[in-house]
Amino acid sequence: MKYFIGNWKMFGVPKSVNILNKINYFYTKDKNGKKYKVIITPPYTLIENFSKIFKNKKILIGAQNCFQKDRYSSDTGAVSSYMIKNVGAKYTLIGHSDNRAEGDNDKILKEKVKSALKNNLKIVFCIGENKLEKKKKKTLIILKKQISKVLDKKLDKNNIIIAYEPIWSIGTGEIPNPRELQRTIGYIKKLLKTIFGKKAPPVLYGGSVDANNVYIFKQNKEIDGFLIGGASKSSKKFIDIIKNYYR
Ligand code: 13P
Repeated sequence: MKYFIGNWKMFGVPKSVNILNKINYFYTKDKNGKKYKVIITPPYTLIENFSKIFKNKKILIGAQNCFQKDRYSSDTGAVSSYMIKNVGAKYTLIGHSDNRAEGDNDKILKEKVKSALKNNLKIVFCIGENKLEKKKKKTLIILKKQISKVLDKKLDKNNIIIAYEPIWSIGTGEIPNPRELQRTIGYIKKLLKTIFGKKAPPVLYGGSVDANNVYIFKQNKEIDGFLIGGASKSSKKFIDIIKNYYR
């Protein structure tokens, strides 16, 4: 199973549902539609509305983040996984580099993961090195730390997806060199196997994925799908990524 996940970030109002309608129409008719899942993570403000509209449709709705405390707390502006689950989300991203930059550390992320899984959300756990770490050839060390400090074998691996998103590639148009990416994804998969055993969680790639470069990623069968930012805000761009992947 492959995954095409669209992360809208700070984008969208109720009428943006038109984008999802078009994607869902394509997805429902696509002859390859059984080979992949489409998940869209709109902002919190749209989760309930979109979850209702697509309740019995193929597209799945997720959140972009969740707060680390369970259920309710007195943290102004915070939204827990319990609250997200109750408005219909099936997934949540955790550990996106945007949120790491805002203070999400390994300890907080571990609490987020636990709380999301406890509330029956599937998680997309994001990891990735920054430009300097890459330059210093620290990528694998960073990824190992990001994974091993947060994930452990007691967690339900069937509800975990990993997204490798090198920070220097997010929104920049720069993508990793295919050989290097193959090595990195291979390393992540090996590491996940040592934690979770044989059937380890899927590993997605994210960072400047578009309809033009998806054919490069498609050569690498180890990549289980994509976490797509900018291009997920246009139905055409998002659909073209899927079309070109299966071309
Ligand atoms: P872009 O596809 O815009 O580079 O964003 C990637 C991302 O951060 C998805 O979570």
